[in-house]
Amino acid sequence: MSSLPFPFPVVAYKDDRIVLIDQTLLPDRLAWRECADIPSLCRAIVELAVRGAPAIGVAAAYGLALSWRLAASRGGTTEDMLKCLEHDRDLLAATRPTAVNLFWALDRLGKVARRLVAGRKSADQIGSALLEEAHRVLDEDIAMCRALGRAGAELLSEGATVLTHCNAGGLATGGYGTAVGVVYGAIEAGKTIRVFADETRPLLQGARLTAWELVDQGVDVTVICDSAAATVLKQGRIDAVITGADRIAANGDAANKIGTYPLAVLAERHEVPFYIAAPASTFDPDTPDGEGIVIEERDPDEVHTFGSVRATPEGVAAWNPAFDVTPAALITAFITEHGVLRPPFHQSLGPVLKR
Ligand code: MRU
Repeated sequence: MSSLPFPFPVVAYKDDRIVLIDQTLLPDRLAWRECADIPSLCRAIVELAVRGAPAIGVAAAYGLALSWRLAASRGGTTEDMLKCLEHDRDLLAATRPTAVNLFWALDRLGKVARRLVAGRKSADQIGSALLEEAHRVLDEDIAMCRALGRAGAELLSEGATVLTHCNAGGLATGGYGTAVGVVYGAIEAGKTIRVFADETRPLLQGARLTAWELVDQGVDVTVICDSAAATVLKQGRIDAVITGADRIAANGDAANKIGTYPLAVLAERHEVPFYIAAPASTFDPDTPDGEGIVIEERDPDEVHTFGSVRATPEGVAAWNPAFDVTPAALITAFITEHGVLRPPFHQSLGPVLKR
């Protein structure tokens, strides 16, 4: 395997445009979407052209770098430009409520802008500093994912089979992956690893994206309906369940794609370890427990349809929460760039809760 799953970036900044792999088109077509302003970037996030907590964070960081440069090109004082940046920050913050990486990245870039405006730096200096900071967010994400991949690799024996949910791979991050990054880490350590990927209704991130990137990397992957997870676990075919997360509260309760919580219950029932792989940017020291995590509710039409085919009768209601919260008590350990953090989480999560 190459050092990153793809020979191209998932999110990049080029000629004052944010260039994203358009994940709505996969697996049919690998194509890029260019966002030349903040409303188009917001649409890309809402439509899941760019998705996965760390990748949304990277896109938002580039978004604020772009916002500054657009404001600077219109002229005015750096205080005026800061006002435009704060307006764009609010637009980006309103796209998706659950993934804390979005807010983490917006806060990080916002702080840099405010500090440099207060320090009377020029508009150009601030623009360059913001772009550098966004590049650092991307580079650090890749480094964190590679480190957690190495830490998690230790948990998988030669020939292990991993069950995962949604897509927490290269596509969901700066390019390496969290849950799938652990699989890549184990493969890089010379192990043969097999993956079962839940299809992940309603938007099929497992079937479309995890399967696409694992096939691309030559990893043995089998897609199952979400409802088949209990059966593969009962049959003893799974050595570890590993998922990513969108926000992990201070007590270890973890929000991830809808359908993760039932997997954790099933893993406990079948005595299979349930791991969550996530970088420190996904831990939220300001949210004490899962009750405080806002769960995004998406358009019911995503449930009414399967691909472009209507799957429910006209007039029936549908409910579409995008995430659920797995209680900390069901999580065997968190796999992070600081190593494998086991219960009691009020003691072990210290390094990832620092801001
Ligand atoms: O709605 P999505 O596709 O953005 O949901 C993504 C997930 O739930 C991922 O598991 C999570 O963001 C972790 S990605 C490393």
